[in-house]
Amino acid sequence: MAQHLNRRVILSERATGLPTPKLFSIVEDDVPSPSVGEVLLNNIYVTADPGMKGWISMARNYASVETGTTMHSFSVGVVVESKHPNVAEGDVVAANTGWAEYAVADPERQTFRKVDPEAAPLSTALGVLGINGFTAYFGLLSVGQPKPGDTVVVSTAAGAVGSAVGQIAKIKGCRTVGIAGGPEKIALCTEIFGFDAAIDYKATGDLDAAIRAACPEGIDVYFDNVGGETLDIVLGQVNLHGRVVICGTAATDAWIPQPSGLRPERNLLVNRIKMEGVLTFDFADRYNEAHADLSEWLRDGNIRYREDIVDGLENAPAALAGLYEGRNMGRQLIRVRPDPFL
Ligand SMILES: NC(=O)c1ccc[n+]([C@@H]2O[C@H](COP(=O)([O-])OP(=O)(O)OC[C@H]3O[C@@H](n4cnc5c(N)ncnc54)[C@H](OP(=O)(O)O)[C@@H]3O)[C@@H](O)[C@H]2O)c1
Repeated sequence: MAQHLNRRVILSERATGLPTPKLFSIVEDDVPSPSVGEVLLNNIYVTADPGMKGWISMARNYASVETGTTMHSFSVGVVVESKHPNVAEGDVVAANTGWAEYAVADPERQTFRKVDPEAAPLSTALGVLGINGFTAYFGLLSVGQPKPGDTVVVSTAAGAVGSAVGQIAKIKGCRTVGIAGGPEKIALCTEIFGFDAAIDYKATGDLDAAIRAACPEGIDVYFDNVGGETLDIVLGQVNLHGRVVICGTAATDAWIPQPSGLRPERNLLVNRIKMEGVLTFDFADRYNEAHADLSEWLRDGNIRYREDIVDGLENAPAALAGLYEGRNMGRQLIRVRPDPFL
C-alpha cells in the first residue's frame, strides 16, 4: 500500500484514579506491516469503554495496557492488506485493535469478526450488535436467567449495555426497572427503551424507598453495572432465589486502596441469592447466536439503541473521561475517519 503515517493514541501514564486526558498522548509513526497470518486494518470507529479505567490502572484486572503502547479498544475497519487466506482486502471487520488509524490484527483471535455493512449501520458492530449487546444478552440470559413475570432491575439503564438488558428482559416477558442519572436519561429509559419504571439515582434523596416503590413485589434479577452503594441497597430487596449479575463497577473510581463497605453475605444467605460475575469474552464461541437474535430484534423494532459519536482520534481521551461523569448519551464511539458506508 502507499506509504501513510499512522496516528495513534498511546497510554503515557497509568491511572491511579479515574482516567483523564493527560494520561494519553498522540503519536505519528509508520503504518505497521502485517506478518504472515495477519491483516492490516484502516479503522473507521473505535470505542471508549467504562472498563478502560481498569485496563490502565495499577490494580489487578482481566486486561491491561502497557505504557508507551496504543490504547486498546474495540474497533471496526476495512482490511487494506491481508496475509491471511480467509480474509480479503476490502473486507469489513470488527476487532480489538485500539485507538489508531491503522492497526495489525490477527483473524484467528475470537474477537475478530467479519461485518456486513449493508445489514445494519457499521457503528452497531461496536454497540448493540457487538460487545454491549453481547454483554447484555449473555449476562442477562445465561447468568441472570429471567423468567416471564420476573422483576428485572438494571443500573446504567440508559447506557449501551443497560438499555439492551432492559429491552431483552422485556422481550422475555419481565417487568423492567432502570436506574440512571438525570432527567434526560430517565426519559430515554421510559420513552425509548420501554422500561416500566425508571429511577434517577442522582435526584432521589432515598434510593432504597424509590426502588421499593418501583418494585412492590421485590427484585428477581438485578443486572448490576455500578456496584457500590446501589448494590448494597438493591441486595436488601432481592427476592428468595434471586440472581445478581455483576457486570460492571462504575460507582467505584479505583480499587487501590481497596474500598470497603459492601457486606453482601447476610442477604445472600437469608434469601439464597446467586451473585455471579459475567465477562463477555467467556461467551466468544456463542457470539453468532447473540448476533442472530439481536439482529432480528433490531429489525423487528423490539430493540432500540442510542450512540454518542465524537469525531477524531484526538478526542478519544476526553470521550473516555466523559463516561465517568455520565456525559455520554448512549454507546460512546470515536469516528476515526468518515464512515464510507453511511
Ligand atoms: N463484564 C463485561 O464483560 C462488560 C462488558 C461491557 C461493559 N461492561 C460494563 O457495563 C457497564 C455499562 O457499560 P456501557 O459501555 O454500556 O457504558 P454506558 O452505560 O453507556 O456508560 C457508562 C455510564 O456509567 C454511569 N456512571 C458513570 N460513573 C458512575 C458512577 N460513579 N456511579 C454510577 N454510575 C456511573 C453513567 O451513567 P449514569 O449517567 O446513568 O450514571 C455513564 O453514562 C459498565 O460498568 C461496563 O464496565 C461489562
